[in-house]
Amino acid sequence: MLEQINNLRERGQNELNALTGTDQLPEWYHRYLGRKGDLTSLLRQLKTLPAEERPEMGKVINKVKQELQKLFESRQQTLRESKLDLQLEIDDLDVSLPGRPCTPGHLHLTTQTLRRIYQIFREMGFQVYEAPEVESDEFNFQLLNIPQYHPSRDMWDTFWVNDKVVLRTHTSPGQIWAMREYFPEPIRVILPGKCYRYEQITPRSEHQFYQVEGLAIGKNIRLTDLIGVMGEFAHKMYGEERKIRIRGSYFPFTEPSIEIDMSCSCENKGCRLCKNTGWLEVAGAGMVHPVVLSNGGYDPEEWTGFAFGMGVERPALLKHNIDDIRYFYNNDLRFLHQF
Ligand code: DAH
Repeated sequence: MLEQINNLRERGQNELNALTGTDQLPEWYHRYLGRKGDLTSLLRQLKTLPAEERPEMGKVINKVKQELQKLFESRQQTLRESKLDLQLEIDDLDVSLPGRPCTPGHLHLTTQTLRRIYQIFREMGFQVYEAPEVESDEFNFQLLNIPQYHPSRDMWDTFWVNDKVVLRTHTSPGQIWAMREYFPEPIRVILPGKCYRYEQITPRSEHQFYQVEGLAIGKNIRLTDLIGVMGEFAHKMYGEERKIRIRGSYFPFTEPSIEIDMSCSCENKGCRLCKNTGWLEVAGAGMVHPVVLSNGGYDPEEWTGFAFGMGVERPALLKHNIDDIRYFYNNDLRFLHQF
């Protein structure tokens, strides 16, 4: 039996030392030290020995058991450490490598243009008022004097969320929000924001774009105030030498309605931008229609106001000589980095 025990110890030691990974440890453990392992079965065999030999032999077996247990633990420790070493070697991190350069971003051309517009109107006493981008039919159309089946709705075909809700086709519904909020105070606001239209996408038109609406309500506001404000805007935005001109137009929410043009930078020599007319369209505008005033809560007998609405991308296109509006929103860095 002693020989058996010694063999077992030697075999156990050799096999343990031959293990190459922690994943092999449990199997070894069960074979030698487990409840059904070799040492346990030796202990069971004790009863076949003569009674006087049993205590001695039992001690030997227990000693071997403790030895193997210790060896197991130290081998486990070694294997764990070498696993860690290996991992560190594989995941080697070279802290001396130069990092990847991080490219600082900058404001989008649309944002830059918007901020310039805010600044110019701020100097004239206008504050920025933000209205919802998702609108009801009521605000987008009806309260602006465009009833359900009015033919002028054709100018603003849009994306419908359901029968009553649309993505706003223009920033004009913000006029109603602003009036209802500020009533009965005089108002001077600009309303910037994104608008949507169900349109064919071309170099000149996108299905999403920005507008800036303007609204001034007071006791003595006249068309000449509107023309003065737009002239000032054109000078500040494009240069003192610019002139503006007025054409008659039609919008359901203004009466009278006008269209404001600005002289082109070609100074009437004729160019591609102005299509040889010498003039560029800047905004639709007019005196706020009495129906719209009263929808906002203001008595048209007592109050008057002007409003205008202009694009944001178009002026930026003109200023930087960009020939396709689609560049604005396809996020091509080669385009964006230029501004
Ligand atoms: N909402 C008009 C459009 O999108 C633009 C407009 C015209 C706004 C006249 C106005 C206005 O405030 O008075 O076509």
